[in-house]
Amino acid sequence: MLPRPILILVLLAAVLAVGLGAGLSKRDLPRQPDKHSAIVFARDVQPLLERYCYGCHGEKKKGGLDFRIYRDENTAAPDRLVFEKMLKNLEAHEMPPESKPQPTPAERETITTWVNSFFFRAIALTLIRVELPSGG
Ligand code: HEC
Repeated sequence: MLPRPILILVLLAAVLAVGLGAGLSKRDLPRQPDKHSAIVFARDVQPLLERYCYGCHGEKKKGGLDFRIYRDENTAAPDRLVFEKMLKNLEAHEMPPESKPQPTPAERETITTWVNSFFFRAIALTLIRVELPSGG
């Protein structure tokens, strides 16, 4: 058994870690929390894909990708890898190709923020939860 003050310190550290974890996960992703939580695929993301991507990733299936199949969160959910590539391509400004109309920075961010929060926020929270018991 640990001496009492140390035990209390350990407990305090654990509480702090939980607090920090929760704080971080909230601060990390969205620059504007309200806008972030309000992004809805069908309303905010799909129209951007339609405007900037369907020309090649629709009927033409460039790169083997047809984005028309993604209508909402449910139809997007199974294809995390495709959205991960979308994220990378958008962030690297590789898509759309530079000869084509580009989304505004805000539009680009709407898509990347949605992908990050929908696919990767859950993973970040899981990691925090898994790490705590061994650390405390
Ligand atoms: C002018 C046609 C064109 C437009 C518009 C376009 N793409 Fe592409 N895209 C391509 C072609 C061609 C490929 C396959 C060859 C390549 O990777 O360069 C591709 C490949 C991709 C890939 C797969 C890359 C990989 O790493 O495997 C992704 C993801 C992608 N595009 C996302 C997008 C997104 C998101 C948009 C809209 C914001 C978009 N593209 C708009 C032509 C286009």
